[in-house]
Parts: sequence; C-alpha cells; structure tokens
Amino acid sequence: MLSNQTNDGGKRTSLHGHWSSRMAFILAVTGSAVGLGNIWKFPYIAGQNGGGAFVLVYLLCVVLIGMPVMMSEILIGRRGRRNPVATMQLLGKEEGSTGAWKWVGVIGVLAGILILSYYSVVAGWVLTYVVKSVTGTFTGQSAEVVSAVFNQFTGSWKSVVAAHTIFMALTVFVVARGVERGLEQAVRFMVPALLLLMLALLGYAISTGHFMEGVAFMFTPDWGKLGWNSVLAALGQAFFTLSIGMGAVMAYGAYLPEETSITGASAAVVVADTSIAILAGLVIFPLVFANNLSPAEGPGLVFHTLPLAFGQMSGGVLFSTVFFVLLSFAAWTSALGLVEPAVAWLVEHFHKTRAQAAVIIGTLIWFIGLGSALSFNVLGDVRFLNGTIFDNVDYVTSNVMLPVGGLLIVVFAGWIMCRNSTAEELGSAGTLYRIWRVLARYLAPIGILMVLGKAVGLF
Ligand code: PFF
Repeated sequence: MLSNQTNDGGKRTSLHGHWSSRMAFILAVTGSAVGLGNIWKFPYIAGQNGGGAFVLVYLLCVVLIGMPVMMSEILIGRRGRRNPVATMQLLGKEEGSTGAWKWVGVIGVLAGILILSYYSVVAGWVLTYVVKSVTGTFTGQSAEVVSAVFNQFTGSWKSVVAAHTIFMALTVFVVARGVERGLEQAVRFMVPALLLLMLALLGYAISTGHFMEGVAFMFTPDWGKLGWNSVLAALGQAFFTLSIGMGAVMAYGAYLPEETSITGASAAVVVADTSIAILAGLVIFPLVFANNLSPAEGPGLVFHTLPLAFGQMSGGVLFSTVFFVLLSFAAWTSALGLVEPAVAWLVEHFHKTRAQAAVIIGTLIWFIGLGSALSFNVLGDVRFLNGTIFDNVDYVTSNVMLPVGGLLIVVFAGWIMCRNSTAEELGSAGTLYRIWRVLARYLAPIGILMVLGKAVGLF
C-alpha cells in the first residue's frame, strides 16, 4: 500500500510510510468509498424511505455536509500523521484545546469494527452469489424462485456464517500480508468496469418499459412523506457511502504526501461514488416495477432484482458472474478502510505487528458479526428498537455513530484548529477555502445537529 520514502520535507512523517503517489491515495479512498453502500444499501434505503425526496436530501447531504467533512478528515489525518486516536489527541493539544479529542478517534475505531461486523455478512452473500451465478441458478427463473433462493440461503445459518468467515479471512489476509497495494491497483479497473457494467444494465432497465417509473420514483419528491427519520437515514447514508465520520479517511490521510490537493482528491471520490449509487438506483427501480416487486422490501432488494434480470437476458450467466465478482472486490477494498483505524491504532499504541493486529481485530469482528449473520435465521425472532440485531447494528452505526463522529470532526477542523493550520493543509486561503470554512463552521454542524435533534424529537 505504502512506500517507505517520505517526502514531506522534514515535517511530521507517518510510521507506516506514505502513499507512493496522489493516485495511490485516490485509489485507496475510492476503493473504500465504492462498495456495498452504493449498490446494495443505497437502493434499499431509498426504497424504504419512499424514493424522490429521500434521494434529493441524500444528494444535498453529500455535497453540503459530506464533502466538507471528508476534507476535514483528510486534513486532520495529514497534519497528525498518526492513527485517528493519536492524531486527534495530538492535534487537540497542539491547537490549544485538550487531548480528550482522542475520543473521536475511539468512536471511529469502534464504528469501523461494528460496521464491518455486518458488512462482512452481506459481502458473504455477494461471494455466494458469484457461485450461484456461475452455476446458472438464476437462468430463466421467475421472481418467486429468485426470492426463494435468497430466503433459503440466508435462512441457513451454516451457509451465511461460512460465507462471512471466508470474507473476514480474505480481509485479514490482505491486511496481515500488507498487500493492500495490489488490491488498490485493482480499483483502477474495478470502478470503471463497474460503471460500464451498470451502464449496460441501464440499457436493460430501459428495455423493460418501466424505466420512467423508476426515474419518477427516484426523483419526484413527495415532501409530505419525508419524516425526520428519513432525513436522518439520508444523512447516515451519505456518511456511510463516503466512508466518513469514523476516521477511515483520516487514517488514509495520514499517509498522504504534503503537496497533494485535498479538495481535488475529495471531489474525485465524491463524484465517482455518487455516480455509482445513482446508476444503481436507475437500474434497480425499473426492475422492481417491471416485476411487481416492492421497492421497500429491505436488505434483499438487490439480490432479488438483479439476478432476476440476469436470468432473463442473453449472456446473463457471464454478466451476473462478472457483476458479483466486481462487487466482491468493491466490498473487499471497503473492508480495508473499515479496519484501518483499528489496525493502525493497535500497531502504534500497543506495538503489535500489522499481522497480529489484523488477526486480533479480524477475530473480534468475526465474533460480533455472528449476531448479524444469525439475524436472518436462528436469531430472526430477536427484535428490539429498530428490528433484528442486524438492523440495529446498521442503524446505530450509520445514523448515530457516523453523524456524531462527523460532527465532532468538522467542529474540530472548523472551530478548534486555527485558520493558519487548516489553510496550510488546504493549500490556500482562496475562495474554495472560504467556502469550505463556512460549510465546516456553520452549515455542516448545524445541519447534522438539526437532523439528529429532530429525528430523536429533541425539538
Ligand atoms: N463506503 C463503503 C460503502 O459504501 O460500501 C462502506 C464503508 C467503508 C464505510 C469504509 C466506512 C468505511 F470506513
């Protein structure tokens, strides 16, 4: 992942080395951003929250809150050059506040662990669907059969746990061996290939004759239907999909060379990530309407609609296999981002090797993930607050931990760090800098606080 030369002219350097180029950094952050959040989660959350108005709020959150939070995270990471816990502690003191800011890093480490615990379960479904695709399970099947395949698979705890185990093993393997570099280079092909494949599927979605219904569902806002809970879901999804609010991007920023433009890199990632999510929606909703499925059916949505479509088209076995392989890679590169804060922290603070850290954190995540894996079968009846264990871990991490983490990060960059420090990292005090500062100081924190407060009925 990282080259060991440092090129920041005598300033602070990272223990783990630095990215060999600006491109390596962009690839790593894009790899972490583009994942199951875009293709699996975005369509089903948008569907559950009524489409239109939700999607527009989500886009606003990405631009007005996501972008300044991402820039803040990267600049903090690069200035501290340590794991998120140590970086926040160091900068807190350096900027004349307190070392207690380290708790922001700790929340991030925990959020990464919890997110990966259920992310890995869904990534396991994707791996399983590669095999199902190759063996032609979906060829010519009806909607009923395709849903039955999904329900039968997720209903078997052994299959789900086995797939979760394989995915966690793959993640630990890459982190332990320090071979992230190879996987990051794969992002170079994977993201464009995923975009192309989504465009091809868009062609198919248009041919179903229900394309405009899908477009209308996604972009016609019915503001009356949008409650504060849906606004919170849109905010949470913006954080989740951009991998922000938990220190992943901060950890990656720690290895970023001094001269790289943080604004440019953030914009590139935001555009790539958002395009893939919107495309996924434009493919999936027409399929939902063409097959009389429900847009609000939940986490199984993509696994019902896409295989059904693949099963009907010529060359479907190949398309389907390539699609699920690409999605597996996308999930894999995202998983690396999710464990990076925890791994970097164990290495720096507890003097573990990367391999030891990867095994310790990986095993912990695997155990926690069992709760989510079993939510679709033996523990399906265990329900509280927002649903199953899986639903709750997802809800709390995306809709509470990430927004709270993001709020603290943006307040730190906007109010605690002095103007000179942030201007130095962002490279100038020009117009772009001023826009960032207004968003970071006012709009983003007030926006996050308002959404959180309204959603829990505080005011
Ligand atoms: N952004 C990833 C996705 O959309 O699938 C999920 C994610 C990865 C969140 C890494 C957070 C993170 F640090």
